[in-house]
Amino acid sequence: MTMNVTQKIIAAHLVSGEMVPGGEIGLRIDQTLTQDATGTMAYLQFEAIGVDRVRTDLSVSYVDHNTLQMGFRNPDDHRFLRTVARKYGVVFSPPGTGICHQLHLENFAKPGATLVGSDSHTPTAGGIGSLAMGAGGLSVALAMAGEPYFIAMPKVVRVRLEGALTGWASAKDVILHLLGLLSVKGGVGRVFEYAGPGVATLSVPERAVITNMGAELGATTSVFPSDGQTRQFLAAMGREGDWKELVADADATYDEEVVIDLSALEPLAAQPHMPDRVMPVRELAGLAVQQVAIGSCTNSSYADMKSVAQLFAAAKVSPETDTLISPGSKQVLKMLAREGLVEPLLDAGARLLECSCGPCIGMGGSPVSGGVSVRTFNRNFEGRSGTKDAKVYLVSPLTAAMVAIRGAFTDPATWGTAPAVPDLPADVPSIRDMFLYPPADGDGVEVQRGPNIVALEKFEGFGDVLEADVLLKAGDDITTDHIMPAGAEITALRSNVPAISAYVFNRVDEEFVARAKACDNGVIVAGENYGQGSSREHAALAPRHLGVRAVIAKSLARIHRANLVNFGILPLMLEDKADYDVLALGQRLTVPVAGITAGGIVRVAVAGGGSVAVRNDLTQKELDIIRAGGLLNYVRLSKTG
Ligand code: F3S
Repeated sequence: MTMNVTQKIIAAHLVSGEMVPGGEIGLRIDQTLTQDATGTMAYLQFEAIGVDRVRTDLSVSYVDHNTLQMGFRNPDDHRFLRTVARKYGVVFSPPGTGICHQLHLENFAKPGATLVGSDSHTPTAGGIGSLAMGAGGLSVALAMAGEPYFIAMPKVVRVRLEGALTGWASAKDVILHLLGLLSVKGGVGRVFEYAGPGVATLSVPERAVITNMGAELGATTSVFPSDGQTRQFLAAMGREGDWKELVADADATYDEEVVIDLSALEPLAAQPHMPDRVMPVRELAGLAVQQVAIGSCTNSSYADMKSVAQLFAAAKVSPETDTLISPGSKQVLKMLAREGLVEPLLDAGARLLECSCGPCIGMGGSPVSGGVSVRTFNRNFEGRSGTKDAKVYLVSPLTAAMVAIRGAFTDPATWGTAPAVPDLPADVPSIRDMFLYPPADGDGVEVQRGPNIVALEKFEGFGDVLEADVLLKAGDDITTDHIMPAGAEITALRSNVPAISAYVFNRVDEEFVARAKACDNGVIVAGENYGQGSSREHAALAPRHLGVRAVIAKSLARIHRANLVNFGILPLMLEDKADYDVLALGQRLTVPVAGITAGGIVRVAVAGGGSVAVRNDLTQKELDIIRAGGLLNYVRLSKTG
């Protein structure tokens, strides 16, 4: 059988199911990664499973989101993560070492490997040819325990790249173009596999920009073949032994195809407040900009930073524009320092931040009220920057640097000659001795927990019927940021579910938590694409703590739907979307849980008369998980027979 790259990796890791789009498949997972904001919960869950050592080839725990350590909570979390990693055989990356995806690409990701990470931008490693998927922390905990990772077999979309990038267009503009074309819903149930003659013109870090932001398409993941460029990158990282060729068979078939002519692309920007609201930068000319932020897991490689430093060496940043720079890793920072490229950044007036997520997750660097912030990041959801009325535009590092210099968007036709994409230097410094490697045996290691580490609560399963009140009626495109907001104060509570639950939906409806506490069971009614955005499982876990037992939406985002299942919340979809208008805040609903079958339809009764038909796309196993009260209960039950 001839296969594309995606099918080859899946076939090599398949433990259950058939490779037919839509059907459930189980995959053996080679590597896992966690970051601190989702990791504390993932390791509490791993401990609850009761396995004494991770069973993957490699598991890495990164600390990159909440590195500020204001008060005791973050340092407590970091100490817990450090000691739990040591005990169970996980590599630990201390705060300040860098951003998980950049570090993983540089140090650990391998062509042909499967990777599951508790961060939605885990697909970054697709740039090196890994099948890398974002998942909830519980799925990652199970993968660490040696359990398969279950997904719906995706459709494979061939993205055929023709030509080569020219002028000021860069890898970021490739993925922004695709987002403009397909929208934030366009990738659901799909893997985007890059192919065609344009592939060879892109380096691994450029490919990783594209696969990183494939997450914004809602895709299962994105993947590039492993070729000469991949070998060159791995050799520069001192890991040539990890290289293997991985290309599609000549006559491989695909479910769908998109063609992109790289030479026709120009600098693009995603406008507030969605990554798919894409337009040419030239059409924004004249818009004054108060802040520029360069970095994040999308655009913080050596090449990105060096291009910016080169532009800043020739011109200072505008005094009207606060310019923040976060290199992706200490390796990137060391290379910049070694080549004398830190000085031009500082002299130009930019501010150098720690190698971490920083402003991307609202950890400092919030824009001024009503300000325009131009960022090289991957998300521009309302409020994510920490300033509710800020307007965030997503662009490439080249565009961001030119905006910082001019203090406004200007027409790229006035920018002069674009710099070439810098190659990696011949002697890339290794930072692998900055990671903490676990001892061969964790027996004598004590896991240290401060007061911010709160053990998991055990959730109840379902009876035959669910009586619940509509606690919220939300519109379309509700993101996980809407459900469980980020920011320093809130993110610090990720290992303390009772405390973090006080913030659920508080930026959408301040009364939500009080309403939830006042009733026994709750339902959330929503429009299209409910739960899009990050893999944040607290967006399911915290509502579950507050008594939410079901979501009834027009449609649901993939990772969030999986998280709802994992925590025993019924993800239901309106059979007739017009019935959305029948449901209202405060109604008492009766869901016939015992009558729900995998993929079936039931009628939910509305108190006072009427009913709506809801369907589900659950497998029998997912239904059993929900009935058991969540995946942890289900796994415990199956272990005890
Ligand atoms: Fe961090 Fe932002 Fe990426 S929070 S992992 S830099 S999307």
